[in-house]
Amino acid sequence: MSNAIESVLHENRSFPPPEEFSANALISSEEQYLQMWTRAKDEPAAFWGDLAQSELDWFHPFDEAMQGEMPETKWFTGGKINASYQCLDRHLKTWRKNKAAIIWEGEDGAQRTFTYQELHREVCKFANVLKKLGVEAGDRITLYMPMVPELAIAMLACARIGATHSIIFGGFSADAISDRNNDAQSKLVITADGGWRRGKEVPLKANVDASMEKSPSVEKVVVVRRTGADVSMAPDRDYWWHELMEGVDADCPAAQLDSEHPLFILYTSGSTGKPKGVLHTTAGYMLGVTMTTRWVFDLKDEDTYWCTADIGWITGHSYIVYGPLSNGATTLMYEGAPNWPDEGRFWNIVEKYAVNIFYTAPTAIRAFIKWGDEWPAKYDLSSLRLLGTVGEPINPEAWMWYHRTIGGERCPIVDTWWQTETGGIMISPLPGVTATKPGSCTRPLPGVVPAIVTEEGEELEANQGGLLVMTQPWPHMLRTLYGDHDRFLETYFSKIPGCYFAGDGARRDKDGYYWVMGRVDDVLNVSGHRLSTMEVESALVSHDAIAEAAVVGFPHELKGEGICCFVIPKGDIPPDEMKEEVKQHVRQQIGAIATPDQIRFTNALPKTRSGKIMRRLLRDIAAGKESAGDTTTLEDYTVLAKLREQDEG
Ligand code: WTA
Repeated sequence: MSNAIESVLHENRSFPPPEEFSANALISSEEQYLQMWTRAKDEPAAFWGDLAQSELDWFHPFDEAMQGEMPETKWFTGGKINASYQCLDRHLKTWRKNKAAIIWEGEDGAQRTFTYQELHREVCKFANVLKKLGVEAGDRITLYMPMVPELAIAMLACARIGATHSIIFGGFSADAISDRNNDAQSKLVITADGGWRRGKEVPLKANVDASMEKSPSVEKVVVVRRTGADVSMAPDRDYWWHELMEGVDADCPAAQLDSEHPLFILYTSGSTGKPKGVLHTTAGYMLGVTMTTRWVFDLKDEDTYWCTADIGWITGHSYIVYGPLSNGATTLMYEGAPNWPDEGRFWNIVEKYAVNIFYTAPTAIRAFIKWGDEWPAKYDLSSLRLLGTVGEPINPEAWMWYHRTIGGERCPIVDTWWQTETGGIMISPLPGVTATKPGSCTRPLPGVVPAIVTEEGEELEANQGGLLVMTQPWPHMLRTLYGDHDRFLETYFSKIPGCYFAGDGARRDKDGYYWVMGRVDDVLNVSGHRLSTMEVESALVSHDAIAEAAVVGFPHELKGEGICCFVIPKGDIPPDEMKEEVKQHVRQQIGAIATPDQIRFTNALPKTRSGKIMRRLLRDIAAGKESAGDTTTLEDYTVLAKLREQDEG
């Protein structure tokens, strides 16, 4: 890569916050934002220390707000705290005791609501169940569950006793479960018989069963009954949730944990090797998600707040469970697909619960656009006052559609840039302050000090594309990659010394607005979900008939990025029917989200003389473009021509 990345997007539209919105917003003026941002930059320990004192509930006060240099910064050392207490107990002493904490709707239309008091009771009971099963503070627990209230209950119950949860998205396969179980050395798995997705049952328990042979650390499995499916229950290993909960004591004081006690591990894809176990700790993470939820969503007590993410991803951790509950909000949780039983389901939910704040992903917005305006038009969306997006860059046309068709040109849109590693939102509009520009995540939140630099670490001027880095630590930053601190240092802190780098390219315009251009490493962003090309390649070569494979992303209308696989078979080029088999093989190995869009069989891949696959060229071919880049290091020129002749499919 040359020093600057070419940026092609030019967008001049700007949308100032509606006056009425600003008048009532928690952060309502440019001066207020600048004052906060500047103080956080110049005196981070004082800025975050004050907030930690006023916004978090401590069993024992901390000695020092911030200790040590990035990447080894520790936050709020000496303090004793509990995330479950922060989300539940402290609200019970207020009028919020009987406020709805979670409103849940199943895909089948079932509804359940938990007040803070009720949620607290369930969490305490399940925490006692975990203790009875032998779980202790510091143990790792795997959660592989559908989007049911028991998932949030299990998370908070782990947090309550100091067990570290590791949630695996329900779309992953048995191998993905055992890999993660082994990496984390999980002691217990919590799952369900199944989950509902587009009217079909997802066989969660069967997947767990298939993973158990290769998960020696797991001693017990707890199973929530959701679909009523016939599942096998291994004696002395598998237990039904509802049976364990019978007659259990509802008194379970929250464990008093160190600020840096590990709260959760969440596996995410990197550009090389196996998935990375991103580790977040307690106090810093809780402060980060508490403040960013309030600042970015301008959260008020009266709001019904809905984040459509799955809790299996970081967005669900931070902005369905920990951030909203810490703020005493009402958080809505929906189990199923947006197009079941029809394409109006989300808008039906917005109308039914009078949702005020709606947070979704660009891939979903592109699907809504495709399904047609008649679906949102059928419902009353006038309760909405704020919209958000996350997961990938949003194209300006999708932004404009969201603004007009869902927001009625009245709701500010917060385009929030952040990552599993950052724990919470980093760059985003403040809805009462920031004039938005379609496609830009705008400006850094207080405490976030980004820069755009070259590969050599030199800062770039306005409008020059480069690498997005963070120059200062923040409380909700990941602390390590579980069990591999060297990989943590190497991945995030070696590329640009002294800075955090997590793989995105971006530019900053003359107004100081950030425009994220996407990943600069071998990470795919498929429907807002991170997958590494390397994981898909490993899945491909595990097929008997495949010798070698190279995987690249290509622009995809709905998913943002599609998966294109260049595959070298062991023998002759197989017939086209084989493509489907290869797709299914990858799906089985990793999960449905990793299903390839294109398989292209080939006898050779473009390689440099030193044998490195030239992915840049493959990306051009997958996108149907002529290669513009330099091909002088290519070993065999004829390979490119041959690859172009191959059909996609
Ligand atoms: C991308 C999701 C542009 C980015 C919270 C990042 C975005 C990766 C945005 C992290 C956004 C997320 N605009 N790109 N608003 N939000 N991304 O870890 O490439 O699943 O590095 O966290 O998603 O994905 P992750």
